[in-house]
Amino acid sequence: MKILITGGLGYIGSHVATVLLQNGMDVIIVDNLENSRIQVLDGIQFITGKTPVFRQMDVSDASEMNQLFDDFSDCAGIIHFAAYKSVSESVSEPLRYYDNNLGGLQLLLKHATSKAIPLIFSSSCTVYGQSETLPIREDEPLKEATSPYGSTKRIGERIIEDCCKAYPKFNAILLRYFNPIGAHSSAKIGEYPIGIPQNLVPFLTQTVRGIRPILKVFGSKYDTADGTCIRDYIHVVDLAEAHVESLNYLLKKQNSEACEVYNVGTGNGVSVLELIRAFENATGKSVPYEPSDPRPGDTIAAYADASKIEQKIGWKARYTLEEALLSAWEWEKRINH
Ligand code: NAD
Ligand code: WQD
Repeated sequence: MKILITGGLGYIGSHVATVLLQNGMDVIIVDNLENSRIQVLDGIQFITGKTPVFRQMDVSDASEMNQLFDDFSDCAGIIHFAAYKSVSESVSEPLRYYDNNLGGLQLLLKHATSKAIPLIFSSSCTVYGQSETLPIREDEPLKEATSPYGSTKRIGERIIEDCCKAYPKFNAILLRYFNPIGAHSSAKIGEYPIGIPQNLVPFLTQTVRGIRPILKVFGSKYDTADGTCIRDYIHVVDLAEAHVESLNYLLKKQNSEACEVYNVGTGNGVSVLELIRAFENATGKSVPYEPSDPRPGDTIAAYADASKIEQKIGWKARYTLEEALLSAWEWEKRINH
């Protein structure tokens, strides 16, 4: 069975590729390498002993997409990761984000709907903004997006829902990820941020390694137990397995609705200070950090009610926070910055 992964050499896509290959699927990866490196293919091969098909191409190029779907007309499922993901960059370059994130999706949907190929879409907990209730359920009302990046996820979800209504044979799952962290246990693939990391865990591991002088903890007086923000940090391998189980669920036609939406998180809310302590416990390394001003636009607390995906698809996170942080550290030590 051939599965197409767009953005498959990126952080999450590369982990999904390994799980799919380990489950006996044939994998076709497309990626334009704008935010990844060709060496990731070696990591995937090392872990799985298998060689996925790879095509370097842009999913927002119509003729390349026509060629792709001509060449792989027997593709059974699609997992779509190819997108830009920096919130701050999206504020300064909105058109680039709308073009890439929505242009690529629409071209993909043209092919997926006409051939009724099931689709898994990378959405984000960013669509909830600051939720009124915690933990966050999928039926929580969505908030106005606070960045063009967030808009591309909200609009992307809507476009897919409309396609599922219009094309009765087309089915999709929208996965709203909480905060993916960590790396494969082999430390052969992981997150490779370009430039100064915006996200907490890569910034923290680079600080412990001595590449950054100190980790600034954004905000210390929030209305939370220790005054710092709360998130739901999920091991990227757990997240990868959620994709494969969601895809299998669609392929076996177990879905009751044409478009279903699921949170992918652990269900545990963890503060920034708790995460720092968990890292120190897991690795024996101390983290240099200092309190700092709040980061504009930060949500105070967001963590998932992850019961729907467990009940309907049978997926549940299995790694602890310490395991995820230890894997992030093992990966950090192998990166050449
Ligand atoms: P990533 O940047 O590591 O991976 C995305 C990959 O897509 C990269 O390899 C990039 O080169 C490729 N790509 C981008 N535009 C492309 C195009 N037009 N054609 C072909 N390839 C293209 O990001 P990631 O962290 O793996 O995220 C994957 C998806 O998950 C994204 O859609 C992102 O918005 C979403 N997501 C990520 C997070 C997170 O915290 N990492 C959270 C929620 C949702
Ligand atoms: C986590 C916590 C920060 C860095 C972002 C995107 C979101 C989603 C996931 C894609 C927050 C604090 C961070 C630092 C800190 N991506 N922090 N010092 O903000 O939950 O979400 O990534 O969809 O759309 O916005 O993740 O890792 O940036 O921050 O104190 O140097 O760590 O304030 O509380 P966030 P993050």
